[in-house]
Amino acid sequence: MQILEDRNALSSYLLEQKKLHKTLGFAPTMGALHEGHISLYKLARKQNDLVISSIFVNPTQFNHPEDLKKYPRTLDKDIKMLKSSNFVDALYIPKIHDIYPEGLKSKKYHFDGLENEMEGKHRPGHFNGVSTVVEEFLRQVGPDNAYFGEKDFQQLAIIKKLVKQILLPVKIWGVPILREKNGLAMSSRNQRLTNRQRHSAKIIYETLEKAKKEFGKITADEIYEKVSAVFRQEKNFALEYFSIVEENTLKETRFAEPDPNIAYRAFIAVYAGDVRLIDNIALHSPLKKEPC
Ligand code: PAF
Repeated sequence: MQILEDRNALSSYLLEQKKLHKTLGFAPTMGALHEGHISLYKLARKQNDLVISSIFVNPTQFNHPEDLKKYPRTLDKDIKMLKSSNFVDALYIPKIHDIYPEGLKSKKYHFDGLENEMEGKHRPGHFNGVSTVVEEFLRQVGPDNAYFGEKDFQQLAIIKKLVKQILLPVKIWGVPILREKNGLAMSSRNQRLTNRQRHSAKIIYETLEKAKKEFGKITADEIYEKVSAVFRQEKNFALEYFSIVEENTLKETRFAEPDPNIAYRAFIAVYAGDVRLIDNIALHSPLKKEPC
């Protein structure tokens, strides 16, 4: 696996590889890699001749300096993991000025309101930061296909809109969430949990599964109330939000009865101490999924 330590190294590498007319798959990450990332690379490997990943902890998408400071950084371990997976041909590890040559500032984007729901409400500026870095990466790397995890489903929806808006010829693929044995969605942030928190964090997925079981049997408001009740009794976890939304708009729904023609998904954000965990589950999907 080739390590590309700056933008010039990336450009030279791409120049060589593009002469060979290879299809290029790209999976950007913020490092602290886990099996969830490996599943992105696995799909990328299957669909492309060449696979590039990146590790860059993007400061502009963090809305609390403490969160940025505490974000796990495990570069040596990540490189070992990537090498032994054999799915990735090159790893781009840019410096801040390779991505932000004019200073650490996000661009402003609008995505038909997708950016204002859930994570957008609770993490102001987050999606401007994500979109700025993803746009820059996609422009620098120029992949045919790019891969993102469905754990960050709202991010995935926004990136699909982003590439349509800026007319980038790249297919965006969502990769299903990988879970620990107890159901906890794999995430780099899980590394910050104590063993005890990691074990009891199964409550997050259990809550989503219960909501799925109850979907269509009781009203949305009744599901919200049941979820709130669970977390009112749970001292180790603080519920930030639980929301059932229409998948296309990400707007919260308060149906008495769900519409069978609409895809619904439930989202949750929970604090375990100062570690923020998110997860989601499809409740009903009448539509066939296609990459954009
Ligand atoms: O999902 C992530 O890890 C990040 O938000 C991304 C897409 C790499 C942008 O920094």
